[in-house]
Amino acid sequence: MSNRTVDDSAEQLPPPLQPHVLFMPPLGDGFESSSDEAHETEVADRDVPEYSLFGTEPVEEERLFWYRWIAGHQVSFLLWRAMCDVVWHHPEDDGPGERELELLSTCVDGYSAMLLYSSTVPREHYHADIRTRMALQHPAFSGTWAPDYRPVRRLFRGKMPWQADPSCAALDEAVTRNGITHSHIADHLVPDGHSLLQQSAGAPGVSVSREKEDLYDNFFLTVRRPVSHAEFVAQLDSRIADLTDDLQHNGLYPNVDGQHHPVVSNQSGEVMRPLLTGVLDVLDRAARLVSDMRLEEAHR
Ligand code: HEM
Repeated sequence: MSNRTVDDSAEQLPPPLQPHVLFMPPLGDGFESSSDEAHETEVADRDVPEYSLFGTEPVEEERLFWYRWIAGHQVSFLLWRAMCDVVWHHPEDDGPGERELELLSTCVDGYSAMLLYSSTVPREHYHADIRTRMALQHPAFSGTWAPDYRPVRRLFRGKMPWQADPSCAALDEAVTRNGITHSHIADHLVPDGHSLLQQSAGAPGVSVSREKEDLYDNFFLTVRRPVSHAEFVAQLDSRIADLTDDLQHNGLYPNVDGQHHPVVSNQSGEVMRPLLTGVLDVLDRAARLVSDMRLEEAHR
């Protein structure tokens, strides 16, 4: 993993805000074995930099929020996929161990942080640009089509057989926080409450076809092919590095023509508040746990 401590001169340069293609294993496939595995052995200690909530640098709206929408989703896919491994290991009553539970709750919080990060787009811009692009990709475009979410959906519903155990209390809290965050950002960006899926004709009960999953992947620049765990971790790490540059330069709530567009107001969202200042911290913890888990498995 790279060392993400950023030097002062680098901080001055505007980040390129360039989305990258994400390579993910085909759904249901494990990771490829790879000679790179040896390079995963150590994660360097690094400082997680701070960032401002309210940015001061004027931003190029279309580029920044498109980048955030794609990058926030791609990081979510990586976190879901990391969670899949644990869920696949514990399909029945034998629940995950302490480290695995820590990985699950950290990845759930990381996903919640990505919901907030992606939703920092001003509402008007979301409707004029991002939602329009999704509706052009398919009129019923929906998060329910996300391939990597499917295997962890039961967990987000609290339905894994081992989830009632007291050892899962922190995970339960993270899952509850995630539900609150998703509802909050949906209400914030689409106050009339209708998703594209719900708005489109004949939407209820549509099943997810392979074509819809491909349309979803394609929109978020995601390509399915064999991926080693080392490559998987490297892709997570490089996205966190890019996101760090963005947050340090633009703040969580960027300066858009002299205005800020907070996602969580002072009056609402007590449970979400730590995620707003802790985006980089939670992602850093998730990346370490994901990387270490594989090493522990390899040494078993
Ligand atoms: C920030 C990015 C977002 C992500 C990553 C995301 C993710 C997801 C996922 C994974 C699901 C499937 C849940 C399941 O099957 O149990 C879902 C469903 C849903 N999402 Fe989101 N979501 C996002 C933004 C939004 C927004 C802005 C709205 C506003 C309307 C919204 C409204 C809904 C609704 C109503 C559903 C239920 C199914 C449907 O009608 O599409 N989401 N979302």
